[in-house]
This record gives sequence, structure tokens and C-alpha cells, in this order.
Amino acid sequence: MAELHCHIEGAADPALVLELAERNGIDLGGIIRDGAYVWHDFTSFLAAYDRASTVFQSADDFARLAEDHLTRLADAGTIHAEFFISPDHAEAGGTAPQAYLAGLAEGVRRARHATGIEARMIVVGVRHLGAGRVEAAARFAVAGAMSEPLLTGFGLAGDERSFAPRDFAKAFDIARDAGLGLTAHAGELRGADSVRDTIAALKPQRIGHGVRAIEDDDLVRRIAADGIVLEVCPGSNLALGIFPDAAAHPLRRLVEAGVKVTLNADDPPFFATDLAAEYRFAADAGIGRAGLLALTRNAIEAAFVDPATRQRLLDRLVRDAISLGAPPSRH
Ligand code: ADE
Ligand code: ZN
Repeated sequence: MAELHCHIEGAADPALVLELAERNGIDLGGIIRDGAYVWHDFTSFLAAYDRASTVFQSADDFARLAEDHLTRLADAGTIHAEFFISPDHAEAGGTAPQAYLAGLAEGVRRARHATGIEARMIVVGVRHLGAGRVEAAARFAVAGAMSEPLLTGFGLAGDERSFAPRDFAKAFDIARDAGLGLTAHAGELRGADSVRDTIAALKPQRIGHGVRAIEDDDLVRRIAADGIVLEVCPGSNLALGIFPDAAAHPLRRLVEAGVKVTLNADDPPFFATDLAAEYRFAADAGIGRAGLLALTRNAIEAAFVDPATRQRLLDRLVRDAISLGAPPSRH
């Protein structure tokens, strides 16, 4: 497995959040009940997410968060994981963005050393905070990438109902000019027009979600023809009610239309999911073993990594597939 779309604060295990809230003396305001996050719609989800993120208050706390997240993924068989980091969330919790980046990078290195998992970080701007904040996030990404090689991308997250894609064109130009990989959330809370406008205005290589492109056949054909990669997060979509049930989710239709689809958990404990569950969802949707392998290959081919790392990951994918597919040895 490989993952391209996960928000690091959204990956925080509720037990870790409770522990740090106690230690750092933070009132969580009831966002965790019986060991699970509590929210009821996208707005209250974002509020719970924002509040949980404030318990992380030092580089060390963020190192622990990244290490915990990546170790869990590696234990489940993940060979590469990219995650979104948000300087705005670091500041809201009182951590300077530079310390945030350094702490997360330390966590990546610890997990990589212990498990062999590869990982990269993507700075996101939060769109409902406005174009100015998103441009500041882009400038932080560019400066951060100069000192931290694990930072390789820039993206746009937050409430898609706020502002228009073109409002963020300058931020994407700043990141593109510095050679960062680009991804933008679209087609989650809004429909096909949002995906089309995002592609036109921001020219990202990847779209976060993009699933509501399914509302427009022409757009789906164009996404497939142009090789734009969709970071599909079925568990998130179902939890947030973007689609009423598994049968209505367009994952399989997008794959069959020739779109380069990847599987992702988005904010796993918020949506009671993880990457393995997303692969089970795909299998239940009728995607066979070769198809699942192709989804992982799509992720590695679209990863924001250097060519040598990509080749190493592809080699590992082939090796793992052969060893998993081989008949059991007799001992
Ligand atoms: N930030 C965290 N999770 C998100 C999601 N699913 N959509 C937009 N912004 C997010
Ligand atoms: Zn997301």
C-alpha cells in the first residue's frame, strides 16, 4: 500500500490527543467521547480537528505524532506515505512553523529508521482562512523545502465552499516556481465545476478527492486523458455524507473510466478508517488483486519523490507483490 492524502493532525490517535491535552492542560471541549472523535457534519468536523490539533505544542509532540502515524502505516504494510502539514495549525497551537516542520521531520526519520517506510510532507494552505494565509503557507513551503528535503509539495485544504480556485492561483504559482509538487482539494463539498475550475486555475498534478467529477462525463474523460491523479478517500466521503452509501461511491467507475486513482484515509480516526480499510472498501467494490496493486502503483508513480526514490519504491512494490503472490513455502 501507499498513501498520498492524509492530514497529519487528522491522523492523531484520540488516546494520544487525550494524553497530551492532560499534560499540556488543554480543555478539549468534549470533542473526544468514549475514545472517539465527536462531530456531526463538515463544519463540526473541522472544528473538532482544529481543537484536537492544539494539544501538540512542541517539536517533540509533533515528532511523536508523525512517528506514531507512520509506524502504524508501516505495520499495516505501507511502503510510502505522504502527509499534509499546516503551518496555520501549528501556530494556532503555539508552535512556530519551523519547529513544527523540524519536529515532524524528526518523526519521519525515526519511523523510517525503525520500519523502512518512505515518507514526504506537503504543506497545505487552509482556504477558508483566505488567499493571504494560503500565500503565506506557500512561501513557508518554499523556504522549508530549501532546508528540509522531506518537504516536497504544496496543496490546498479546508472548506471548499469558501472562495474560488482562482483566488489561490498566486499561492500555486509561488509553489510551482520553486519546483514543488501540487495538489488541491476539490470535488468533495462542491461538484464537478469546482474540479474543473481548480484544474484550470491551479494546474495541480493531483486533486484531493475529485470524486464529484463523476457528475460530468466529459470532465472524467479529460481527467483520464490528462493523467490527473485523484486522491480518493472513500471512508472520509461516506463518513461526511458526500455519498449516501458504498454502492453510490464512484471509486470503481472512476477506475473503469481510466482515471489514475489512489486510495487514502484523509483523517483516519475521525472517519473510523485506515488505509487497510480503504483497500478493503475497494476490494468490496469489485476491484481485484491486480487492480488493487495498480492503485498502489498509481500512488508511487504520482508521489512527490525524486526519480531514484520512485524507482526504489516501484522495485519494492514488485518484490512485495511477488512474495505475497508466491505459494507458501513448505517448512
Ligand atoms: N482538512 C482536513 N480534512 C479535510 C477534508 N476532508 N477536506 C478539506 N480539508 C480538510
Ligand atoms: Zn483531505
